[in-house]
Amino acid sequence: MNLRINSFFIASCILLFTACNNDKKKQEEVSLIPEAKAYQTQIDGKQTDLYVISNKSGMQAAFTNYGGRITSLLVPDQKGKLTDVVIGFDSVSQFVKSSEAYFGATIGRYGNRIAKGKFKLEGKDYQLTINNGVNTLHGGTVGYQAVMWDGKKVGDSAVVFTYLSKDGEQGFPGNLNVKVTYTLTAKNELKMDYEATTDKATVVNLTNHAYFNLNGSGTGTINNHLVQINADKYTPVDSTLIPTGINESVKGTPFDFTTPQTIGSRVDEKNVQLINGKGYDHNFVLNAATSGLTKAATVTGDKSGIVMTIYTQEPGLQFYGGNFMKGKNKMKRGSADEFRTAFCMETQHFPDSPNQPSFPSTELKPGQVYKTQSVYQFSVK
Ligand code: GLA
Repeated sequence: MNLRINSFFIASCILLFTACNNDKKKQEEVSLIPEAKAYQTQIDGKQTDLYVISNKSGMQAAFTNYGGRITSLLVPDQKGKLTDVVIGFDSVSQFVKSSEAYFGATIGRYGNRIAKGKFKLEGKDYQLTINNGVNTLHGGTVGYQAVMWDGKKVGDSAVVFTYLSKDGEQGFPGNLNVKVTYTLTAKNELKMDYEATTDKATVVNLTNHAYFNLNGSGTGTINNHLVQINADKYTPVDSTLIPTGINESVKGTPFDFTTPQTIGSRVDEKNVQLINGKGYDHNFVLNAATSGLTKAATVTGDKSGIVMTIYTQEPGLQFYGGNFMKGKNKMKRGSADEFRTAFCMETQHFPDSPNQPSFPSTELKPGQVYKTQSVYQFSVK
């Protein structure tokens, strides 16, 4: 009898303990996504919000329509623990204050730099706003990271952002209708589908500027992350980060990531390109797949075992190693955006393509549809 009561008691305790622990785990997971309230305000007369999506295996992502930004991305680590791998803030107002860092943002109309903000198209000269030394970076003074998009959740796993970029905005010709769909797939991928149409000839280069730390945002340096980039060539730059126009072989340079290398192992070498970029801030010429998406790169978090594989239809990948992070911003969960504590992998056309005839063209004409897909896929090693 006593034995029966005892086993009943022990079994009940175990059940209760498991239930409490599951609840605690759930609470921890839920609290990794900031409260929606902190994202609900008016900017430029439009309502901002937080859009949370998930897939069947428990991956979650949050977005805001201010700048079409990813604000959280929760992926399982080696032990199955959900880890937030993107840098961001607890509220939309902090994104507004730091808009020039482009945290998590959708970038346009032209991702990366255009020399002196000038280009010629169909015989006409255009002058863009200048916001990066003498050049235009990521679409000018007020790029797509700092405008209000219309946001809409589609089912549980996708969010669509649309934006009308008016003729003459930041100096670009043509009314550009832009649509970006972010989807979490059952294969633990964040899929990004970009679409745009124009009513005048223009140039377009859209990308995403999420800052990743695969050990978890706010866990320190990315120096020990392992990076492999599927590129035999890259586009060296001048001191203002405009490509020289000659694609160079990565062989024998700190830009050779054809085999896995840690970010930190060569980043401080006295190499003129690393000096120009203050570290890695360069466009890699991807070895294009003969069909389907190109496997662009793989990055592994040394502590978490989280592996991010990047696939794209774009010809280039800007690997930015967080060299301009200065610890000035207080991020989610109390950390700061310290030097090289996150990296970006921006799938894109090459910088300054409108002025570089040998680069793949970024022109879009009326009647054509700009359509491109990139994927961040997550797994563990
Ligand atoms: C880009 C640029 C970098 C830097 C960051 C934002 O990726 O290539 O030089 O400006 O954006 O800090």
